[in-house]
Amino acid sequence: MIDTSEILVSHEQIVEMTDRVSAEINRDYKGKKLVVIGILTGAFVFTADLVRKLDMPVLVDFMQASSYVGENSTGRLVIKKDISTDIKGLDVLIVEDIVDTGRTLAALKEMLLQRSPASVRICTAFDKPDRRTNDLKPDYNGIVVPDKFIVGYGLDLDGEYRNFDEVRIVKRDINTEDR
Ligand code: IMP
Ligand code: MG
Repeated sequence: MIDTSEILVSHEQIVEMTDRVSAEINRDYKGKKLVVIGILTGAFVFTADLVRKLDMPVLVDFMQASSYVGENSTGRLVIKKDISTDIKGLDVLIVEDIVDTGRTLAALKEMLLQRSPASVRICTAFDKPDRRTNDLKPDYNGIVVPDKFIVGYGLDLDGEYRNFDEVRIVKRDINTEDR
């Protein structure tokens, strides 16, 4: 039985967060053009909210990737869908739903840097620093959350609950290796 009755982050708190993070990005990239890369599937909600609060010229693209733990600490990155934008010489902002171990983003950032962009920064809606296995630090950080499995605002459990307008805690034994 899956219990999602406990709200961790309310809709109002999410709106405050997107206001604050978008203001930081607007300040830092003033007068520049920004390529926003949303990481599918989880970041589709946050990306849609965020880009509508940005006031510089923005190109929006999406990428789908997952990391598997391999012999090295970053893990192996598997790209299921690549961007179609040429990012050479451009400022890139990766938008993620949640940073957990940090493996996916570390590998993804490294891969994008090989395409010679002007810069690559990371923005995440939620951050679970207790779970980090590397030194990855998001440049723009929404809300720090405890080491609990959460759903809603794009985050799923087996593909479900992404449509919740707030973030809820899942109460059930979850195999964390299976994320
Ligand atoms: P990592 O940082 O490479 O470990 O992977 C982060 C990804 O794991 C996120 O993009 C989510 O897809 C997934 N994830 C991590 N924690 C949660 C959670 O609490 N709920 C739902 N998905 C999660
Ligand atoms: Mg994800």
